[in-house]
Amino acid sequence: MPRGLGKRCLWLWGLLLWLGMGSSGDAPPTHQPKCTDFQNASFLRGTNLKVQFLLFTRSDPSCGQLLKESSNLGNSGVNVSLGTKLLIHGFRALGTKPSWIDRLIRTLLHATDANVIAVDWVYGSTGVYFSAVENVVKVGLEISRFLHKLLALGMQESSIHIIGVSLGAHVGGMVGHFYNGQLGRITGLDPAGPEYTRASLEERLDAGDALFVEAIHTDTDNLGIRIPVGHVDYFVNGGQDQPGCPTFIHAGLVEQSGVKIEPLPTEVRAYLLTTPRAPYCVHHSLVEFHLKEARNKDTNIKVTFLSSNFTSSVKITIPKQQLQGKGILAHPYPPCQINQVKLKFQASKWALRKDRTTIVGKFCAAPLPLNDSKKMVCLPEPVNLQASIAVFHDLKTACV
Ligand SMILES: *[C@@H]1O[C@H](CO)[C@@H](O)[C@H](O)[C@H]1NC(C)=O
Ligand SMILES: *[C@@H]1O[C@H](CO)[C@@H](O)[C@H](O)[C@H]1NC(C)=O
Ligand SMILES: *[C@@H]1O[C@H](CO)[C@@H](O)[C@H](O)[C@H]1NC(C)=O
Ligand SMILES: *[C@@H]1O[C@H](CO)[C@@H](O)[C@H](O)[C@H]1NC(C)=O
Repeated sequence: MPRGLGKRCLWLWGLLLWLGMGSSGDAPPTHQPKCTDFQNASFLRGTNLKVQFLLFTRSDPSCGQLLKESSNLGNSGVNVSLGTKLLIHGFRALGTKPSWIDRLIRTLLHATDANVIAVDWVYGSTGVYFSAVENVVKVGLEISRFLHKLLALGMQESSIHIIGVSLGAHVGGMVGHFYNGQLGRITGLDPAGPEYTRASLEERLDAGDALFVEAIHTDTDNLGIRIPVGHVDYFVNGGQDQPGCPTFIHAGLVEQSGVKIEPLPTEVRAYLLTTPRAPYCVHHSLVEFHLKEARNKDTNIKVTFLSSNFTSSVKITIPKQQLQGKGILAHPYPPCQINQVKLKFQASKWALRKDRTTIVGKFCAAPLPLNDSKKMVCLPEPVNLQASIAVFHDLKTACV
């Protein structure tokens, strides 16, 4: 983000564009029999971003249907009862169509019946990198307005999955930010580094941008960001032929995102055909604790899953003045083999006397990757935790 474009400016932009959102009247439905491809921006850059939304469905995975924001999307091929995958490319130096996009679309549609929508913002993403960065907020807002129309048709926020490549990952983060982190999932593929490593959380992709945020850093070029940006960050360490379970390495940052080994999400695995195949080595669960009342200091809770022959733990931190903390628990057995969860509110290290503080909150868990149709499993009652005292609760997840 350009330095002059601070928080306030961002919000002003947001406000202006959101205010304009409701007012565009629906044009009569237009029928679009022909396929639309990405534009060629080459040297014709202008102030107009000319963002195009191209819908691909199983009925014809190679034919893009142009979705006009001004038209009645209810008459398009969008099926609101299916999940939606929104693909956002990154910086396109030459203003050309991303070479990988057709293949990714086909692979996604092969794996799942979904509305696959490719966002063509080649006009805004060409030229020099920094001008593309300047367009990130504007493109994010255009996409947000477009999603607003889909949601108005009855689409669920949680069924929307954004897949953003490089700079597109931060565009996705921006969109997620405008939806207060309520969209289902954002996958950042090699989130761009330049201008973003030190950016605020509002400006870049971060774990607050969707219910589940993951990033895959393949480290294949020097433009990738080197800090974790999601709930799970996969650092694919270049290895092409590692036998068995590939290990994805974090640089000193394991604590923050918690995961070292990971089955790549199905959709993305195919895209990364050049990396080792990822067998299902471990399972992951997203665990969350919602405090009933915010506290004026950080709250640390150790969460342990217990099965007959294994335990695994993760620490959840709820920042002060906030209500919710999340963590990722890696476990070698499927969630349905977990019998109990142990919760322990960790006493303040600096307390002089025995810490007798208690907290009350709600605990929930969900297997990853989050499946659109699966809900979180929550403990039925609010949990009371006293500092340093572990409590055990049964946790029942049905085996599939
Ligand atoms: C963009 O350029 C490519 C290669 O020159 C061409 O095949 C394609 O048809 C062009 N696309 C459009 C929408 O004009
Ligand atoms: C939309 O998807 C649902 C779920 O797969 C399916 O039952 C329904 O027939 C689809 N609707 C249309 C118009 O294709
Ligand atoms: C743990 O025990 C379950 C049966 O209770 C078994 O299916 C599973 O393979 C065991 N896991 C390991 C890693 O030994
Ligand atoms: C989600 O889960 C349902 C039932 O468990 C399964 O039928 C469906 O294929 C899953 N969808 C995805 C995208 O994994």
